[in-house]
Amino acid sequence: MERLIFTAVLMVVLIANFATSEVAAGGAVVVGSSNPKEGDKLAMVQEEEDMDGGFSSLDGMLQWAIGHSDPGVLKERSEVAQRMSPEELNKRQTELKELLEKLKMPSDAQLMLIAVNDLDNSSLPLEHHLRALEELLVLVEHIDNAIDLQKLGGFSVLIRILNHSEPEIRTAAAWILGKANQNNPLVQKQVLELGALKLLMKMMKSDTTEEAVKALFAISALIRNNMNGQNLFYQEAGDTMLQEVLSNSNLDIRLHKKSLFLIADLAESQLENENTAEISFFSNRLLLKAIVDSMASSDLDLKEKVCDVNGH
Ligand SMILES: *[C@@H]1O[C@H](CO)[C@@H](O)[C@H](O)[C@H]1NC(C)=O
Ligand SMILES: *[C@@H]1O[C@H](CO)[C@@H](O)[C@H](O)[C@H]1NC(C)=O
Repeated sequence: MERLIFTAVLMVVLIANFATSEVAAGGAVVVGSSNPKEGDKLAMVQEEEDMDGGFSSLDGMLQWAIGHSDPGVLKERSEVAQRMSPEELNKRQTELKELLEKLKMPSDAQLMLIAVNDLDNSSLPLEHHLRALEELLVLVEHIDNAIDLQKLGGFSVLIRILNHSEPEIRTAAAWILGKANQNNPLVQKQVLELGALKLLMKMMKSDTTEEAVKALFAISALIRNNMNGQNLFYQEAGDTMLQEVLSNSNLDIRLHKKSLFLIADLAESQLENENTAEISFFSNRLLLKAIVDSMASSDLDLKEKVCDVNGH
């Protein structure tokens, strides 16, 4: 009972806060407006709100909540509770507790831990692993979850399965890595240290387009704005990799687009940081020729960068 009343009071507080902040925000906009009449009207509304709906203090709000509860009903309920035997009361409380437990949703961190454990368990069937990967793909969209996944040790499992025998599993793992690494230096650092870049670059040679697309997506996310990652990419002959993609007209157009976006990112980094390691990369004539040829191809629409952000 106390819990229910507490919940009701909490909701009233939230609603009241919401209402006053809405009006406050609205009022603030109008203060600067050129129409004084409208400003006055809003000020009046604001005053009314303060008197009626909004609460100036927690006390006032509590008074209101008490005033609006039906004393008859409350009395009747407490009498029912009093008529219950201690056993009955205990049972009721246990039931209520169980209900609350059931209603309690597992946290994102718990869901990720379950998914990671499933991935780590090689005796589980493939569908089980794919489902775990699907869950992680959604969860790592939030930057906080991506950081939690790092703390849970999830990335070492994901990187290990970049070596999986099933292309579908490797592809999903690369996609998750790409999403988790976007604008996330903390995750980039760990994933680079775990040696993901080399494995992802190997995946670029895959027979399946989807695997190469997701691998390139992950590579780009991993080294964007990350000097360590970029230096490693140059050491691993990233220029040759990109040149081969761009000179192969049989490859999916998404691979060409992603390659050009990555090159643009790398060039930008070079302008911002005078890093000599990159000089040889951009003086690679074969790469430059491949870039120019690719840019000249007619069906390449580089205005649309959305596909790059989502990994599609
Ligand atoms: C792996 O999965 C099997 C089958 O569900 C289960 O019996 C086993 O306990 C799991 N192993 C670990 C380490 O969780
Ligand atoms: C992937 O497999 C190769 C060869 O099968 C092995 O040398 C390498 O250590 C593996 N990498 C990971 C991260 O498991």
